[in-house]
Amino acid sequence: MRIAVIGTGYVGLVTGTCFAETGNQVICVDIDAKKVEKMKNGVIPIYEPGLEELFLRNSNEGRLKFTTSLSEGIKDAQVIFLALPTPPGADGSADLKYILKVADDLGPILENYVVVIDKSTVPVGTAEKVQAAIAKNAKVEFDVVSNPEFLREGVAVEDFMKPDRVVIGTKSDKAKAVMTKLYAPLVRQGNPVIFMDERSAEMTKYAANAFLATKITFMNEIANLCEKVGANVDDIRRGIGTDSRIGKRFLFAGIGYGGSCFPKDVQALEKTSKENDYDFKILKAVMDVNENQKTKLIPMINEYFGGDLKGKTFAMWGLAFKPYTDDIREAPALYNIDALVEAGATIKAYDPEAMPNVEALVGDKITFTSGPYEALKDADALLIMTEWPQFRTPEFEVMNVLLKNKVIFDGRNLYELDEIAEKGYTYYSIGRETVNSKQ
Ligand code: UDX
Repeated sequence: MRIAVIGTGYVGLVTGTCFAETGNQVICVDIDAKKVEKMKNGVIPIYEPGLEELFLRNSNEGRLKFTTSLSEGIKDAQVIFLALPTPPGADGSADLKYILKVADDLGPILENYVVVIDKSTVPVGTAEKVQAAIAKNAKVEFDVVSNPEFLREGVAVEDFMKPDRVVIGTKSDKAKAVMTKLYAPLVRQGNPVIFMDERSAEMTKYAANAFLATKITFMNEIANLCEKVGANVDDIRRGIGTDSRIGKRFLFAGIGYGGSCFPKDVQALEKTSKENDYDFKILKAVMDVNENQKTKLIPMINEYFGGDLKGKTFAMWGLAFKPYTDDIREAPALYNIDALVEAGATIKAYDPEAMPNVEALVGDKITFTSGPYEALKDADALLIMTEWPQFRTPEFEVMNVLLKNKVIFDGRNLYELDEIAEKGYTYYSIGRETVNSKQ
């Protein structure tokens, strides 16, 4: 098939590259000329494990091309993906200006029947708006389909190539046939392609993300209560996660969810509820709890240092909102940096991927180190913000020498309590008792 992908952000680039990998001819369109030039020269603008290899192979073999011209990009296309940004507006709702602008531009230049696919996470009713915007000037038949993506950063290629399910919102049989053919190579294991109307497909995406954000937040609240009643949230997690109705995943308590999707989507769904005169109480609580959870370690740090952090130096392990990404959007680390620097502390941070992004954002507010151990030198304590696997089994003998105090504030519950007690550390974590080791 001939496919055009409009927008080469994270979703667009993964979509374009993966569909090229399944043998389609893909042209990616972006208005950023510099970015397009780079991609033409084989430079991939995002970090995502496994994507670069596919990007290069499909570019070299001529199935993946790039252009700044919309009309060149969509020429002879059978499907057009819209993978454009939908940033939250001032009131929390998704801003559709980029999508509707492209829809306006598409109308007059369509030359043959085409399926236009909303891939971005968009509020309920957007497919109808896109349909109307194209229809204003279209001279040919077309369908607009809602096809939300469920990619997780860090494992996006795998999620794309082996989706748990594909959700397709359309009432048109012609569009259904095109979409079935397009996704056939990805669902050969038997995972379902679920057809529904456009509004339900749009709602499915929000429901999925809001549910997962709520699941995490529920565990964060259980963790907060565990601290008060003297229970261990990790045991609770194992105790309930084995119930197949609950499931093992997304039950990890920590310093809150971040990233480009959960915060934005929970906020947008709450906005949609409000607009429709529905008071979605759980969502408001989820946002509220998550906001507090991000800086949950700060009172613990204050308690340990007697409320005075002026002149203290903290080693920070992890900056990205989760492992295997350089994405720092809504990352808890940023909130902790702000709070600690505000209190007069100094931070030396290490993250395997996200340091350039944090440096671009905060400048010389903090310093960065070339490895995790360099950050520990003369630090008053270690703070863990992201559960990169390399932090899970560190060399405690090396740490003992570098750290001024054997104290760890762990926002991701990386270590077992008995293990850390045996190493002689004072250890604060989430939803578990504090290990107090005399220094
Ligand atoms: C999410 C959805 O999973 C994906 O389907 C959607 O398309 C985009 O949003 P992503 O934001 O990449 O993907 O990350 P995800 O792995 O879902 O993690 C989201 C956040 O939840 C992270 O901040 C993570 O640290 C946090 N989290 C996750 C927890 O705090 N506890 C958990 O048990 C799981």
